[in-house]
Amino acid sequence: MGRSNIAPIRAGEVATMPAPELSMPKAPRQPLMTVRGLRKAFDDAVVYDDFAIDLPLKHFISVFGPNGCGKSTLINMVSGLLPMDAGEVLYDGQLISETRVSYVFQNYREALFPWLRAIDNIHYPLKVMGAPRKERHRRVEKLLAEFEVRIDLNAYPYTLSGGQQQTVSILRALVTEPEVLFLDEPFSALDYEMTMFMREQLQKIFMKTRTTMLLVSHDLDEAIELADKVVLLTRRPTRVAEIVDIDLPWPRNLEVTTGESFMALKRHCLDRFWQEVKK
Ligand SMILES: Nc1ncnc2c1ncn2[C@@H]1O[C@H](COP(=O)(O)OP(=O)(O)OP(=O)(O)O)[C@@H](O)[C@H]1O
Ligand SMILES: [Mg+2]
Repeated sequence: MGRSNIAPIRAGEVATMPAPELSMPKAPRQPLMTVRGLRKAFDDAVVYDDFAIDLPLKHFISVFGPNGCGKSTLINMVSGLLPMDAGEVLYDGQLISETRVSYVFQNYREALFPWLRAIDNIHYPLKVMGAPRKERHRRVEKLLAEFEVRIDLNAYPYTLSGGQQQTVSILRALVTEPEVLFLDEPFSALDYEMTMFMREQLQKIFMKTRTTMLLVSHDLDEAIELADKVVLLTRRPTRVAEIVDIDLPWPRNLEVTTGESFMALKRHCLDRFWQEVKK
């Protein structure tokens, strides 16, 4: 890069610059998660090549795409679990190592520590962080009061139902008050009734905390129901087919999820999905 001819502005000079003639009220700057130049290949199979995306923080983002297109690989990389071959991921300009994140795994049976009671599983991340006992209790109690959890938290995980175990996993993920929560198909091993219940719970959590959520789902209804934006991915090498704004009111109750706007959004996403799959 050649040197610029424009003289740098020194501190103090900014204040003397003339004010713009029309001073429009500025919209607050939207913090973003930005991915640039992302590359990932497994042997010869290129999953991502020069992949880029901008997503707003403090929103609920769902990721939907064909089987094997790299949804899990993507959230594993942007959450820092899996190294990238190349690229950069920033959260409002900060590296992942400078961002508080949590992850909810699909396989809740293996995610909780079986030798710890549910309540001790929830305390665990705070212990690892070195939070003093009193502070741990304060934070866990605050969390439990917010979410009206109706589970015997003195029970060991194996005595709890799948939905209850996944609720404990979500509480454990939330106790550190993450800035971003990653969820890879968290409800896919649950039965229908429990899945409906868990979607409602997650929605309540989001409405209360506005924690940035990045959810991978293979269920388009779920992806739309929970999200502000649905990221539709293509087949490999994977690109963004479209980011669909889900402009539906919260909460996403039965009226919303069976309404005309929901159906129109679903039709649109399905159209795009089939266009990509048939290519
Ligand atoms: N550790 C690995 N070693 C080799 N190949 C891998 C590995 N992890 C993923 N892949 C391959 O990378 C591609 C993307 O995998 P990924 O699991 O991210 O897809 P996905 O979209 O989450 O799939 P699904 O819809 O089945 O959950 C697939 O072709 C997969 O076989
Ligand atoms: Mg996956």
